[in-house]
Amino acid sequence: MAASFRHRGISDTIAKANTKTKNTKKKNHCRLCIAIILCPCIILDVFITPRKLSENVVGKHSDKNPFTPGAGHPPPFLAGRDSEIAEFSKFLDQETVMRNVILTGLRGTGKTVLMDGKYKPAAQDKGWVWVGSDFSESSFLSEAKFCQRLLTDLSVFTSTAALAAESGSLGFTSQPNTQRMDYNFLWQFFELQPGLTADKLKATLEFVWKTVVVNSKTTEGIVFAYDEAQVVQDRDSKEEYPLAVMLETFQSLQRKGCRFLLLLTGLPTLFPRLVESRTYAERMFTIQELGRLTPEDSRDAISVPTKGNAYSFTEAGVEQIIKTSDGYPYFIQFICRETFDHLKANPDDLTIPLDSIVRKLDTDFFAGRWETLTDRQRDLLYCVSSLPESEEEFSIIDIVEGSKATDRIKSFTPGDVSQMLPRLIEKGLIYKNRLGKYCFSVPLFNRFIRRKLEQKETQPRLFPD
Ligand SMILES: Nc1ncnc2c1ncn2[C@@H]1O[C@H](COP(=O)(O)OP(=O)(O)OP(=O)(O)O)[C@@H](O)[C@H]1O
Ligand SMILES: [Mg+2]
Repeated sequence: MAASFRHRGISDTIAKANTKTKNTKKKNHCRLCIAIILCPCIILDVFITPRKLSENVVGKHSDKNPFTPGAGHPPPFLAGRDSEIAEFSKFLDQETVMRNVILTGLRGTGKTVLMDGKYKPAAQDKGWVWVGSDFSESSFLSEAKFCQRLLTDLSVFTSTAALAAESGSLGFTSQPNTQRMDYNFLWQFFELQPGLTADKLKATLEFVWKTVVVNSKTTEGIVFAYDEAQVVQDRDSKEEYPLAVMLETFQSLQRKGCRFLLLLTGLPTLFPRLVESRTYAERMFTIQELGRLTPEDSRDAISVPTKGNAYSFTEAGVEQIIKTSDGYPYFIQFICRETFDHLKANPDDLTIPLDSIVRKLDTDFFAGRWETLTDRQRDLLYCVSSLPESEEEFSIIDIVEGSKATDRIKSFTPGDVSQMLPRLIEKGLIYKNRLGKYCFSVPLFNRFIRRKLEQKETQPRLFPD
């Protein structure tokens, strides 16, 4: 067994970096000797082993799977994103808040974990209070619901403050006979204010600023951080403008000197929606766009979590994962997690079972989105995925031309395509990037579609025509 491991070592993508017992430790030293004789290429992998053994306490090495593919699940090591973190930190230093932040990117690029794992502690370290949550669809059905959401989140902070009922003085107090500034209090206050929804919200937030934040010696300001903010929508048909209420309120309060910073996180459709609602949104926000990790950062995302683990990836393994994931954080976590699971079940197989991992990725991640599509929508996406620039952006004409070049489907007219694209946008599969240009919202979706297409073509038809 040991010999096969060493021989496969040249192409092996995982090196066993440690052992738990003395016996296996001895075995590894044996492997090292044979490896030195067999091939210098193996030496590199195996040489890492004794160094790791001496650095770490033997027996403390974990065989736990360190990787965490998920939605908002903190990664074992958050790689890269240094420039975004540094920039966000500067926004916290604004005396008067003039710039708010939009953190955007395709699905699984790490918006949520960056916000929760780095921005939040950075803000709290600088004395900012962090308020916020996810914006779910229902939060944006109406202006009132939006305000309820905001005040609910804010009340988590304000309910530690109390309004002294008799003296009329305000601030933090543990005196009896005081009115807690909980959600009910804020909502009553809101409802008693005159004017439109935006006026009521401004008055309530300004009240909180003057009574709670200004009186607090430790609070620099409040970050209102909202994830999944792309669901925010003004609805002309219902005469509901929650987005406009949000923008108007924050812009007006920031001008008055309230240090409220808006941090919105979401898919790339978010910013155009904001600008559509209020053109000055362009000047209110700085956009931070998250994409692939650089090869160096991808390398860290793959290798750092395995430090102290019983296994680590070899250089060839790292390269293979970077290539397959294309540097997208979710895919890195997914491939690494699956590899470690595979390794646990098959300790002697030190390869990365890429084919089966990609198949699992297809069913776990992509297929759910694919299943919701009609045949004609699938045909359209087949055309897009066959375009050479499908990973970047594409236009209606590109799709029409692409459909003419594909034998297996009935071609599309520009009218067909413009009618179908909005449905695909609604389903969250593509988004409008700029005038006349569209992109996939899901990274590497085009590769999945091509795989689907290839599979279909290789599968014999059960009932041929
Ligand atoms: N910089 C990073 N280094 C390593 N892993 C990361 C990094 N960023 C994100 N991940 C991992 O990628 C996965 C997706 O992250 P996250 O849920 O934050 O993405 P997202 O952009 O918020 O996705 P969505 O648009 O679907 O909400 C998680 O498993 C997370 O642990
Ligand atoms: Mg997210």
